[in-house]
Amino acid sequence: MAVINENFSKLPGSYLFSTIAKKVASYKESNPDADIIRLGIGDVTKPLVPAVTNALHLAVDEMGKEETFRGYAPDLGYSFLREAIAENDFRMRGCDISSDEIFVSDGAKSDSADIQELFGLDARIAVCDPVYPVYLDSNVMAGRCGEYDKESGKWDRVIYMPCIEDNGFVPSLPKEEADIIYLCFPNNPTGMALKKEELQVFVDHANKTGAVIIFDAAYEAYITQEGVPHSIYECDGAKTCAIELRSFSKNAGFTGLRLGYSVVPKELNRMGNSLHDMWARRHGTKFNGAPYIVQRAGEAVYSKEGKDQIKEQIKGYKENAKVIREGLKNAGYTVYGGVDSPYIWLKTPGMSSWDFFDMMLDKMNIVGTPGGGFGPSGEGYFRLTAFGSHENCLKAMERVAKNS
Ligand SMILES: Cc1ncc(COP(=O)(O)O)c(C=O)c1O
Repeated sequence: MAVINENFSKLPGSYLFSTIAKKVASYKESNPDADIIRLGIGDVTKPLVPAVTNALHLAVDEMGKEETFRGYAPDLGYSFLREAIAENDFRMRGCDISSDEIFVSDGAKSDSADIQELFGLDARIAVCDPVYPVYLDSNVMAGRCGEYDKESGKWDRVIYMPCIEDNGFVPSLPKEEADIIYLCFPNNPTGMALKKEELQVFVDHANKTGAVIIFDAAYEAYITQEGVPHSIYECDGAKTCAIELRSFSKNAGFTGLRLGYSVVPKELNRMGNSLHDMWARRHGTKFNGAPYIVQRAGEAVYSKEGKDQIKEQIKGYKENAKVIREGLKNAGYTVYGGVDSPYIWLKTPGMSSWDFFDMMLDKMNIVGTPGGGFGPSGEGYFRLTAFGSHENCLKAMERVAKNS
């Protein structure tokens, strides 16, 4: 009989968003006429911009002609896209990243789940609490997290870095020695950002201890405030200690198209091994490249029209964030985030985050995400996203005002 990976059975409950989907489906079954507004899952609603769809059409036509047909894409991505990324996302911001340090993928979820494969099974991970669940779950599946304690909601080999009201949602350095430090800023779920000097503290620490930082910058496009770094490579010394993950999902609406990339600098070595070479080897073995048409669509994101059109779209989501932030504040809630991020993080008034979820669904027909689902320090908070339509955000805040 096949022996299974028993680490899977250690995972508590189902994936957060499946639980929410089940709850909403069951509510909808009992209340078929309810006009439910979904501000829960972080999926975009605005369509792809014309610069992107034009590039897709052109690429589809190329694939239909013998002279321009393309088969397998290069494992690490087409050079036209890797070059556009290195130039626009890094060199234009003063970060010295070259195109061969870019690894094109099908999105940041896969990269953030897979990157742990570069490290030994006894490596200790540090995560922010609350946290995007993929970092933890992928390490649990690999067998790196030890045992789960239901009472505390914590894994005994994981080092938690609480991001709470008391520290302004800025994590302190890990309390014990960590080998891998996951950071996501602007943050999902708190919607808060780190200033450059705050991120520099982590970079200096990692260079001192030999830890590697996995920096998830999926929400970079939402940064509004001066002094908030768009890339970890804006910090001195980051190329010897950090891997950055990026996505085309939240800036350009590619959640259904699928495109992302990781940056693994050539200077990043541990135990005499180049993490760049290891990641290239892993990509070559396990990944057969993102589709040509999608990579052409990604290239169009960096064209003049693409940049202008996407800027408008993000402006729209940011306006939604403002409507939600202000609406909640006016209704008396304590609210964080929503300035450098599409996520608004509110304090649940005197009830647990799942009770608040039920109340919102039942009384206001609004779906959000209970903070407790992101880790123990998320308890007492609730996440709303600005990715809905503007009308729905306004309607949701009318309901909040009526019920407060
Ligand atoms: C922090 C973070 N990283 C990565 C992802 C996934 O991005 P992608 O759509 O590129 O897989 C998400 C999606 O919600 C996210 O919140």
